[in-house]
Amino acid sequence: MSKPIVLVTRKIPEAGIDFLKQLCEVRGATEATPIDHETLMKSISDVDALLCLLTDTIDHAVIEAGSRLKVISNYAVGFDNIDVEAATERGIMVTNTPGVLTEATAELTWALIFAVARKIVPADKYVRDHQFSGWDPLLMLGYEIHGKTLGIIGMGRIGQAVAQMSVGFGMNIVYHDCQSPKLDLGSSVRSVTLEELGQLADIITIHVPLTPQTHHLCDADFFRLCKPGALFINTARGPVVDEEALVEALKERILAGAGLDVYEHEPAVHPGLFELPNVVLLPHIGSATYHTRTNMALRAAQNIIDAVTGKRPAYLVNPAVLNKLAL
Ligand code: DGY
Repeated sequence: MSKPIVLVTRKIPEAGIDFLKQLCEVRGATEATPIDHETLMKSISDVDALLCLLTDTIDHAVIEAGSRLKVISNYAVGFDNIDVEAATERGIMVTNTPGVLTEATAELTWALIFAVARKIVPADKYVRDHQFSGWDPLLMLGYEIHGKTLGIIGMGRIGQAVAQMSVGFGMNIVYHDCQSPKLDLGSSVRSVTLEELGQLADIITIHVPLTPQTHHLCDADFFRLCKPGALFINTARGPVVDEEALVEALKERILAGAGLDVYEHEPAVHPGLFELPNVVLLPHIGSATYHTRTNMALRAAQNIIDAVTGKRPAYLVNPAVLNKLAL
């Protein structure tokens, strides 16, 4: 019997590919850069499964071209790069990789909070530039984290992990989400409106998926009501923030600093951000640990193996598709 064919759009950790090869014929998985749309369209017609990345746009046309596709397995927890509705319509399962990247992303959020609050990046540059000539009582003064109010927008898995990691810093936590956290995070955590969060938080951090409802959730109106001197962190998705409004809020010193791992028009970065010394800019590395990226590859591969062997994948994002399939 012929093996199911899987197209992997880009190089991912080998463990995932080896796992897939036990049952499937694997195509692709060799390029370090994203596949272009035309090549993707040409390569998809005879494959049973697609393992794609957030850098691939899986739109209606790609889904239509994949006439044999059973599953689209995204190597990411976010799946805003996929037209899920079109996939569901065509009876194609869409899966993602939640859970395995929660801690890595929450840790990077804290890395950014500290980097911005304590000026880690300019301080490092200062020493490398041989400017350090001895201890100075006024050198590189930053902001303390201890006892401050942390505002978490989106209290899902990653938001909750960020909250849990604050234990030890004696923080108050306010969050904005339409759902309550699943974990018991204690009495110093309370739910507020987005406006209240802006007014109360000393540090604001975003952990919502990108959807039509969260697009530009943080816009000029939001920044205008923020507590003066707040720090702003985004390790979720760039378009949740109106980047132009963010730049203005930083220029006007409404915000004292920002730490960004994602951008509105990624990989492009708003030119205004480069001009601002109180901003730390990272290249979308929230999940970039050896451990997490390997586990993401294994989870994405498992999703495919389940789908092509007739099982319901554990991380199915469009359960409505099951109505179309006999699973
Ligand atoms: C995701 O998974 O959505 C991250 O942005 C990349 O790991």
